Amino acid sequence: MKKKLIAGNWKMNGSLAANESLVRALLAGMGGAGCTVAVCVPAPYLVQLQALCAGSALELGAQDVSQHEQGAFTGEVSAAMLKEFGVRYAIVGHSERRQYNGESDALVAEKAKAALAHGVTPIVCVGETLAQREAGKTEEVVKRQLAAVIHSNGHCISEIVVAYEPIWAIGTGKTATPEQAQQVHAVLRAQLKAATAHSQRVAILYGGSMNSANAASLLAQADIDGGLVGGAALKAPDFLQIIAAARQAPAA
Ligand code: PGA
Repeated sequence: MKKKLIAGNWKMNGSLAANESLVRALLAGMGGAGCTVAVCVPAPYLVQLQALCAGSALELGAQDVSQHEQGAFTGEVSAAMLKEFGVRYAIVGHSERRQYNGESDALVAEKAKAALAHGVTPIVCVGETLAQREAGKTEEVVKRQLAAVIHSNGHCISEIVVAYEPIWAIGTGKTATPEQAQQVHAVLRAQLKAATAHSQRVAILYGGSMNSANAASLLAQADIDGGLVGGAALKAPDFLQIIAAARQAPAA
């Protein structure tokens, strides 16, 4: 039985003061275990978050990682560096990075590999644009994106987390219906099953305007193992309600 995973993606938001009050409110309201909770924060705040989360159940995540080990890569942050700050997860291939930073499927696969090599769990994001959905290409797109990661990571693939984030649902307030999301999650699960005997270990998160009102119905789906939450992760009451919904959701 696997616990649900709720990961907040703060994106490029926060300040020392705002982070502290948000994290303190989360720690006060989170209660005991029941589901895994993480916050993926901008790199400069990792040291602050490491101190704030020490000894708590709140896990730390980064929003990106370099595919390189070390060296002349100005601006990049390596997986080994993340590990030094207690980072357990690193988002890779978020659609905003694919779109604004031109990240390809191959690069995302290399980033996942670099994370895994240092014991950081990559949260591999896949998802289609509205145009791709309307053209009936959703399955083809997400399978291509995940295939690249499966291809370069071999048997380690059971150690990743996948996040299905339809691009048209990110930050738009338009959520995929639970049925739409489940349909894609089932496709991804089947793809993982063909790649590893341990596919059930892989958490497949839904992301895209998940909020306190829609979380329970999404998390009730058979192949939805948690959420990658943007906007609603910046407000403690909303994020806490999503965590509560995950705790109550049927376990896979
Ligand atoms: P959103 O973002 O919840 O604000 O739609 C999700 C994400 O981009 O990870």
